[in-house]
Amino acid sequence: MQVQLVVNGKPVTADVPPNTLLVQLLREHLQLTGTHVGCDTSQCGACTVLADGRAIKSCNALAAQMQGCEITTIEGLAAADGTLHPLQAAFKECHGLQCGFCTPGMVMSSVDLLARHPQASEAEIRAQLEGNLCRCTGYQNIVRAVQTAQQASA
Ligand code: FES
Ligand code: FES
Repeated sequence: MQVQLVVNGKPVTADVPPNTLLVQLLREHLQLTGTHVGCDTSQCGACTVLADGRAIKSCNALAAQMQGCEITTIEGLAAADGTLHPLQAAFKECHGLQCGFCTPGMVMSSVDLLARHPQASEAEIRAQLEGNLCRCTGYQNIVRAVQTAQQASA
């Protein structure tokens, strides 16, 4: 079937089997491999992207459901000149990552939160990131990175 959507600001038309997951469309058809697959069962959050501005787990959505949607992946966050998004810069500055596998999902989920709640409390940040698992960092520096991005954007 034909799926038409906008990915990182560019119109995309893809011919895919009806059972194609959004994450498969992104990684396998569009080569946007910054969106990771950690579990494939909607638990780890590594595959988180924005669909019309809201964070979703792309292993848990069919590409066909995204007809007409605007999808943003980690590749779409930095400015055209390479300047990092404030959240990307804050994760870097605060050592909010170690192996980096969870990082795209953490950043995309945080983008959604700060767009809706720029002044989100630490508890709200932790609640938002409950669906994103990290096996490396212990989460402290991830939360600090989100708070640093909040301050940078204030
Ligand atoms: Fe989608 Fe883990 S790969 S939630
Ligand atoms: Fe390794 Fe989070 S930095 S899983």
